Formats: sequence, structure tokens, C-alpha cells
Amino acid sequence: MSTNQLDKKSEAWSALFSEPMSELVKRYTASVGFDQRLWKADITGSLAHADMLCAQGILGTEDHAFIVRGMAQITAEIEAGTFEWKLDLEDVHLNIEARLTTLVGDAGKRLHTGRSRNDQVATDVRLWLRDEIAALIELLAELQRVLVGVADANAEVILPGFTHLQVAQPVSFGHHLLAYVEMFARDAERLLDVRRRTNRLPLGAAALAGTSYPLDRERVARTLGMVDADGRACVCQNSLDAVSDRDFAMEFAAAASICMIHFSRLSEELVLWMSQSFGFIDLADRFCTGSSIMPQKKNPDVPELARGKTGRVVGHLMGLLMLMKGQPLAYNKDNQEDKEPLFDTVDTLRDTLRIFCELVAGITVKPEAMERAALRGYATATDLADYLVKKGLPFRDAHEVVAHAVKLAIQQGCDLSALPLDVLRGFHAGIGDDVFAVLSLRGSLNARDVLGGTAPNQVRAQVARHRARLG
Ligand code: ARG
Repeated sequence: MSTNQLDKKSEAWSALFSEPMSELVKRYTASVGFDQRLWKADITGSLAHADMLCAQGILGTEDHAFIVRGMAQITAEIEAGTFEWKLDLEDVHLNIEARLTTLVGDAGKRLHTGRSRNDQVATDVRLWLRDEIAALIELLAELQRVLVGVADANAEVILPGFTHLQVAQPVSFGHHLLAYVEMFARDAERLLDVRRRTNRLPLGAAALAGTSYPLDRERVARTLGMVDADGRACVCQNSLDAVSDRDFAMEFAAAASICMIHFSRLSEELVLWMSQSFGFIDLADRFCTGSSIMPQKKNPDVPELARGKTGRVVGHLMGLLMLMKGQPLAYNKDNQEDKEPLFDTVDTLRDTLRIFCELVAGITVKPEAMERAALRGYATATDLADYLVKKGLPFRDAHEVVAHAVKLAIQQGCDLSALPLDVLRGFHAGIGDDVFAVLSLRGSLNARDVLGGTAPNQVRAQVARHRARLG
């Protein structure tokens, strides 16, 4: 095969093919339109492979030097935007290899010794994804820092805590935000775990069965930084599994979906809190839009879109799961369909993380509105019950007594704390004037001074713990 023949993919296979591919089939089967995003990983993987071939005496030093030089030029061309991507060459791998051969001749053709596109593409996607995951984990840490900062500033701010979206008990707004820090911390843990299984080397599996060349796969793994915490090379141990496994893609999409679900829940709360009926917060104008017809409107577009994009990411997870479900071993062309959902998942999650770092930092908190809402919902009823328990009443009886008190307060249109002492004593003789401290929102908050509770003390302790953890 001559150098320029490689420009035509239909001629890149073998003499076996007697007719060219139609334009439609070419477009249908090509991935270069999207997988060119993998170019850096592809070159990095190829250089590690060439270095090992040379060290093993499979490739001459001169050829190796040609390959290194050619790849440097290709890198420069791609970075400068002058590299010509050809649909005829199907994918990123064939495009780069063909260009290499044009630039350095036979040395370029020797690069593919002991390798197949099957182990090559699996390696490229893993290399690309492991770096993206590391960047996402960094952004998750940044988002947690921002949330912790806002939580610290609002440790004393009282928010009605809800269950069933009914006012339940007062909570610190800081405490509420720290719940999201817990979620995003778990997301980071999950991603780190996915990254560990992503960062393993398929190269050396060749098409499916391994190769007859004496490859040093562990050397390639070490060159590519595919090593465990102890610096041991991480190499896929079964060639069939190596080329066909896309667990890392499914796992990543699952971890990303869970993270987006957290964003979606936070978004839903932001949308509710910003609505006129709640009025608990305001979002900075730069995250909102107006209405073309209703001049009074300021819509929380960013959280709404994050909620919407959650569906899109979860859809990618479903797509990847379905992509894999019917595939026999080993590699099948189906796998080419793993890329777009993966790319879009990374892009969507990255943008969402970045935008929320800013959005959360720019929230305006309205403590009076939060407190007013907490007062409206008899949020300290449980505190009154607990108070009666401390006076010797069994909890179930206390619960019943308080229900009567709440009923009366509702009839009178006032808060529990506005009922006079003699009226309260009518419900139970053990009630003294120390009850009013218990019935106040702040008293209720301060009382929940247990590990993980909402007392501002505890919130500040959690803030300190997170700060020490996040650096
Ligand atoms: N573009 C292909 C993919 O993304 C590369 C591997 C092709 N291998 C093959 N035997 N056709 O999966």
C-alpha cells in the first residue's frame, strides 16, 4: 500500500474489497466528526506504544525517532487548526496514522505493529476520560467550598425545614446547604472510584486475542500513568474484556447522573425559594431572564435548565446501558456509539458545575422571609412535645397534647408561642413559663445540638470539618 493510497479508507483495508463505500454509508460509519476530540489521547497512546516497541526491539530507533517527530508535527498542526480531518479516513485513529505515514513514510506504517484499533480506541477513551474525571473532581471540590462559605455565613439563619413540603421543624439555612455538600462530596468519591477503574490499559489486547509480539504492556501502562496508588501498572488482564469492556463509561455516566440529580434537586429548591410564594432568596440577574410579554418577570433559567439537563444526562446513561446489553464478545462497532453520550455528559456536567459555583456564591438570602414562613407552620410543635416528655409525659401522650394546642392556635390564628401561659397550662399542668424559650424558633434550633443536627454550633463544626477536608 502506498502512502497516498491511505487517503482513501476503502483502500486502507485490503485488496479484498472490490467496491467503494457509498457516501451515505461513509457518513453513517464515520466517527471523525466527533472522535477527533480524542486526538491528544490518541497521540499520547501511540507514543507510549512506539516507545515500548522500540525498547522491546520490535521497532528500530530510527523509526521510533521518525514517529516521535511526525507526532510532534501533527500535534502542532491540530493545535494550529491546520490539520485536515478526512471523512474518508473514518475516525481519529486512521486520520492521525495516515498523516503520520505521509509525514514519515514507512515508520508511520510500523506504528500499528502489535496493535488494533480495538485496543487503541479503548485506550484513548480511557485516557481522555480519566483526565476529564480529575477535572470534574476539582470542580466538585470548588463547588463544595462555595457552598460551605455560604453555609458558614448563614449558620444562624432560620429556614422552615420541610417534610412533604409542609413546614416541619426550623433548620439553619447553613445546615440545609451543607446537606448538598454531603451529596457533592459523595459524587466526588464516586468519581474517584470510577477513575480508578477507568485508568487501566487495554493496549496489548490487539484485536481481541492478544498479540504474538513480545509486548511489555506494563511499561506502556507506566508511561501513560496507568498505575495504582502504589505505583503498580494497571493493565486489563483479559484481552477479550480489554477491547469490549465499557463498564467505565456506564459507571461514569451513572456517577454523573447521580450528581446531576443532586443539581436537579438543588435547582428545584432554588426555583421554589425564588418564587413569590416563598421569597426566601434572590438569584443574581445574570443567571435569570425576563419575559418578552410580562415586564415584571425574572425567571430562574439556570436552575431550570440544570433540572432539564439532568434528563439529558440520565438519558445518556440509559443509552450507554442499552448500547452494551446485547453485545457478544469482543469488540463490535456498536461501541463507536459510546463517544457522543460520554462527551456530552462530561460537557454538561462540567458546565453545570462551573455555573453553580458562581450562582451559589451570588445568592441573596432573605432571612426575614424564611423566619416568617417558619413561624407560620407551627414548626416548634415537636419542641413542645419534647418539653412535655422532659416533664415526665410519655412521648405519644405529649404528641396528642400538642396536637390539641396546635388546633387551638390554628383556630385563633396565632403561633404556639402567642398562646398565654394559662391557656397552655390548660393542656398540661406541668407547663411553666420556661416553655416560651422552647417555643421560639431559635430555641428549637439550638436544642438540636447533636452530631449532624441543625444547631448553629453543629453547623459551624461541620463547616470546620469540611474546610479541613477540602483545603
Ligand atoms: N472508530 C472506532 C470506534 O470508535 C474505532 C475502532 C474500530 N475498530 C474496528 N474494528 N472497526 O469504536
